[in-house]
This record gives sequence, structure tokens and C-alpha cells, in this order.
Amino acid sequence: MSAAGTTTTNHVIPEMMHALQVVKLGLAEESLQYNQVKTPKVTSPHDILIEVRAAGVNPVEAKARQGNLPIPFLSTPRIMGSDYSGIVVDKGAKVTEFNIGDAVYGSLLQPIGPNGSYAEYILTSRSYLYGGAIIKKPDNISFEEAAGVGIALVTAYQAIAGSSYNLPKEGTKKILVIGASGGVGTYAIQYAKTIPDTQVIGVCSGKNAKLVRSLGADDVIDYTSKEAMDTLVKDEARTYDMIVDCIGGDDYYYQVISLLKKKGVYSTAVGPSIHFGAQKQGLLDVAKIGMTLLSRKLFGSHSYQITLIPSWKVLEMEVAPLLASGKIKTVLREDQIFDLKDGVQAHKKIESHRTVGKIILRV
Ligand SMILES: NC(=O)c1ccc[n+]([C@@H]2O[C@H](COP(=O)([O-])OP(=O)(O)OC[C@H]3O[C@@H](n4cnc5c(N)ncnc54)[C@H](OP(=O)(O)O)[C@@H]3O)[C@@H](O)[C@H]2O)c1
Repeated sequence: MSAAGTTTTNHVIPEMMHALQVVKLGLAEESLQYNQVKTPKVTSPHDILIEVRAAGVNPVEAKARQGNLPIPFLSTPRIMGSDYSGIVVDKGAKVTEFNIGDAVYGSLLQPIGPNGSYAEYILTSRSYLYGGAIIKKPDNISFEEAAGVGIALVTAYQAIAGSSYNLPKEGTKKILVIGASGGVGTYAIQYAKTIPDTQVIGVCSGKNAKLVRSLGADDVIDYTSKEAMDTLVKDEARTYDMIVDCIGGDDYYYQVISLLKKKGVYSTAVGPSIHFGAQKQGLLDVAKIGMTLLSRKLFGSHSYQITLIPSWKVLEMEVAPLLASGKIKTVLREDQIFDLKDGVQAHKKIESHRTVGKIILRV
């Protein structure tokens, strides 16, 4: 353990660091400020201090920053961000799995902060209660790729693996991924293709069809074409084992539910409200959504699942090996990698719902 301002091996840990702070809830340009704040310190034997190289941006962070989610006591200033990659620069005496100098990636417990990954340094912990996920970064994955993984890949994994109980044991399985070009969707296509003998069809716009095919999709349906969607519904009724919905909303649910076989599963990462949280959601809205979820679960024509909270154990134990083996990659575009100080642009991009793959803050 070392005090901030001192040197740990060759690394000088500064007293102050830069971080992207949410100073008030609202529009990105009024809310996010690139400020100097105190660098966190290792104070417990389970703590790990990481010099952040990249942080992943997720829609939930923008939704919370806008004040659209009914989260009580969301005080400001706070640093948002869950997903990160970086270098271990200090650690407590009881941390034995990681050494100073290790390249790592992972997720903190809370995407909404208050001490999140949009910062030059983060403190994580191996204690059972306070720890998120932390994994050694394989050399074949860049810091930017690793920072994209956390919430989005775990969600895609849980939505599919957690709903796979009804997949037929034999014969070809068929999975439809709605929103196949986004952060969750690009991972969902790739993970679905790791299930043996599975045909995966992506629903995305025509401009992203080539990308979605390149991730392994056997076919793509252009959701902007009424004709293409009508043909899908007409020709492929009762042929799918699973629908993975990364967009949400009642329209998709009613449009495609008839595609499922009798034992098929509708698995959503979002629920009955399209892009849930893009608009302000009060407690009453959440109650209504809860009732719809419950009625679909209890009385719907098909099994209905919603992924609510990503599990960090899943990230360490089940998802990390898929990345290390190269079976799943993060989709990154250079124009979606922003410097930490340009977080306003990153948040505006994620709010547009036009992201392709992941958005990353380079630190
Ligand atoms: N439950 C959880 O724990 C959990 C965890 C992570 C994420 N989520 C939620 O899951 C959703 C997906 O997140 P994301 O990171 O993938 O980002 P996203 O911003 O929702 O996805 C962007 C992608 O969606 C596509 N898209 C937009 N409207 C569409 C539509 N009507 N039909 C099909 N595709 C459409 C866009 O492609 P085009 O530009 O071509 O339209 C773009 O590539 C978000 O609402 C997020 O909050 C939930």
C-alpha cells in the first residue's frame, strides 16, 4: 500500500487526477465537466488502484445523467462509468491474484457512479461486498476493445444463456437478434453463433447489414423496410427458438412474437418501453412497465425473459474466456472512440441510438 503522491515501482500516483464529472442532471453539455478531483487511494487490504486506459460508455449512464431514470438520491457531482481497462498501479496487502504493472479490464459495481470509470484512476476491490469484476487483459485484445466488454457483453450473454433452457437439444436452432448492430446486439450475434448448430438472423438497418453478417449472422433483415419485416413475419412464423430484443418496445413484441415456436423464448434486455429511459420515466411509468412484464410472464403466449442486472461473476468466469479465445470481439469504429475530455460528444452519440458497436473514452 502506498500513499497518493508517492511512487509505486516506477509509477508516480498524482494527488489529483482528471475525471469526467456529472455536475448536474440534464443535457450533456450542461452536465458533464472535465475536472480535477482527488485521486482515489488504496486504504483497504483488498483494494486495487488502476490507472485507466479506456472506459466503455453504456446507454444507462446517459439515461441516468439526463435524469430520466427514477433513481432516488442521485447526488452530484459524481463520476459515472462502469467498464474499464488499465494498469494496476497499487494494491492492498491481501490482493494476491494481481500484481502492479498487470494490464486488466473489468467493471465496477455501479454504472451511475459515484466513483466511476470516466476517470484517470479508479479504485476497485477484491472484497466480496464491494468488488466488481477484474480480469487480466490478454495481449491479443487492445485496451479500447477490453473497455467495451463489461455491461454489454454480459447482458448479451445473460439474455441468451439465461434463456437457453428451451433450445432444442438436437437439430438446428434459430435465434433472431433485434438491434443487431448496437453495443449489446453485436456481442449477441457473436455469442449466439458460438452455440453449436445455430442459425442466427440479425435485425438491423441496411447500412449495417454488412457488419452484422461479418460478425457471423447467417442472414439479416432490414427493419427500415416494411416489406422485409412483413415477409419475415409471413414466411417464418413459428420457426424461431429464441428472440433476443436489444431495442425494447411493444411494437417489436407484437410484430415478431408469432415467429416463435411453441416453446420459444422472447428475451429482452430493455422491456416493453422502446429504448427504456430515453425519455423521462417516473415511478408510475415503471409500475406500468412492471405490470406489463408480469402479465407477459404469467399470461403471454410464450416464455418471456428480461435481463435486468449484469452479473460480474459471469464476466470473470464465463465471458472472459470467450474473449481470450478470440471467439467474441468488440466492434469499434475510430469515430466512436473519444478522448475522456470529449465525453459530451460520446454521450450525445450514445443518446442518438445510432451507435455501431461500442463507444469508448480513451484516457
Ligand atoms: N438490461 C440490462 O442490464 C442492459 C444492459 C445493457 C444495455 N441495456 C439496454 O439495451 C439497449 C441496447 O443497448 P446498446 O448498447 O446496444 O445501444 P443502443 O444505442 O440501444 O443501440 C444502438 C443500435 O440500435 C440500432 N437501432 C436503433 N433503433 C432500432 C430499431 N428500431 N430496430 C433495430 N435496430 C435499431 C441502431 O442501428 P441503426 O442506426 O441502423 O438504426 C444502433 O446500431 C439499451 O436500451 C440499453 O439501455 C440493458
